[in-house]
Amino acid sequence: MRSLLKTKTAMALALAVSAGAAQAEGDVEVLHWWTSGGEAAALNVLKQDLEGQGIGWTDMPVAGGGGEQAMTVLRARVTSGNAPTAVQGLGFDIIDWANQGALADLNKVAADEGWDSVIPAALQQFAKVDGKWVSAPVNVHSTNWVWANKAVLDANGIAQPTTWEEFTAALETLKAAGVTPIAHGGQAWQDATVFDGVAMSVLGPDGYKAAFVDLDEAVLGGDKMKEAFDRMAVIRANVDDNFSGRDWNLATAMVINGEAGFQMMGDWAKGEFLNADKVPGQDFLCFRFPGTSEQVTFNADQFMMFDQGGAVSKEQAALATAILSPSFQSAFNVVKGSVPARTDVSDEAFDACGKKGMADLAAAASSGNLFGSMAHGHANPASVKNAIYDVVTAHFNGEYDSETAVQELVDAVSIAK
Ligand code: GAL
Repeated sequence: MRSLLKTKTAMALALAVSAGAAQAEGDVEVLHWWTSGGEAAALNVLKQDLEGQGIGWTDMPVAGGGGEQAMTVLRARVTSGNAPTAVQGLGFDIIDWANQGALADLNKVAADEGWDSVIPAALQQFAKVDGKWVSAPVNVHSTNWVWANKAVLDANGIAQPTTWEEFTAALETLKAAGVTPIAHGGQAWQDATVFDGVAMSVLGPDGYKAAFVDLDEAVLGGDKMKEAFDRMAVIRANVDDNFSGRDWNLATAMVINGEAGFQMMGDWAKGEFLNADKVPGQDFLCFRFPGTSEQVTFNADQFMMFDQGGAVSKEQAALATAILSPSFQSAFNVVKGSVPARTDVSDEAFDACGKKGMADLAAAASSGNLFGSMAHGHANPASVKNAIYDVVTAHFNGEYDSETAVQELVDAVSIAK
């Protein structure tokens, strides 16, 4: 199946070269999944930047948080010989497209702009394949965050929880007060996003790496993993009845509107709070999932530049240059909720959560506490990620108890890897 797909992709790539790009010359066609209010506001910063340079924007949005649907559309576009100019991509997916020879060589732009010295190693491992820059990192997000409605917490005498015990006590208090404790959207990628933080809190950094990066069976099937699943069951018991299938931004809206106390979600959630004119510290709180205050599970959005037949086009080069400019890195990430993909951007324009995000990232990188997010394709390739998703979601929906889940996890990962 996989090799058939590869052959198909190779044929399609050859076609792409002859078919050429669909958009007018001087335009870029950008495939992405930034369709929520906060995401669209951030994307506008990029569109306007390019328009200011006389480069038109052909928008190719594919709704669906986490990008699974966008990747399906991308495969179809490439297979039909019509790859977009630039495509939002994450982690191992970028490496996969580069290995298939689908991406343009950005080494000249990277050398002219000095990317090697300002883009951190953690991102370079997903942007540079076999010595060739193939994508432009836009940001660094991280997944082990909790977002809380401050008025709801205050009204119920709840202080920001710092341990699992304090967190579960807060959930009980909210439930007793008739407030939905946790806003959640039951989609596999969202279940997995919660699991990133929960697993880190129980397994610790070494265990997280052993399980999701090294795929160590003893850790995947061990007692601590079972405990992580037990915690997921507690979370499941604290979501509302309508959680199934809900989009992540609608879950964020529940916290914004005071219908729910907490949401566990990556810092793209902050974009929704800001888009609703909410202020950190005043209207909402941002803090690391209890028990993970020193760790950061990151995912970086990048724009992969698809080979349009020949050298990187001048529009692709302009897009890549715009994305990595320090002023854009600040302006965009302030709105998006993420932090800059360059290490030399000032935190001055960022709000309290953004400043914390930048400080946490730097501290985690230097103390060995920075790990690629399993949920967002930065710990292992899509086949393994999807195998983990299936088990986490089946457990969340009550199909497996925790004991069964760990066994299924070991089996699913060993088949997928
Ligand atoms: C992530 C992506 C973020 C965010 C989120 C929800 O995978 O990295 O930028 O938009 O999906 O759509």
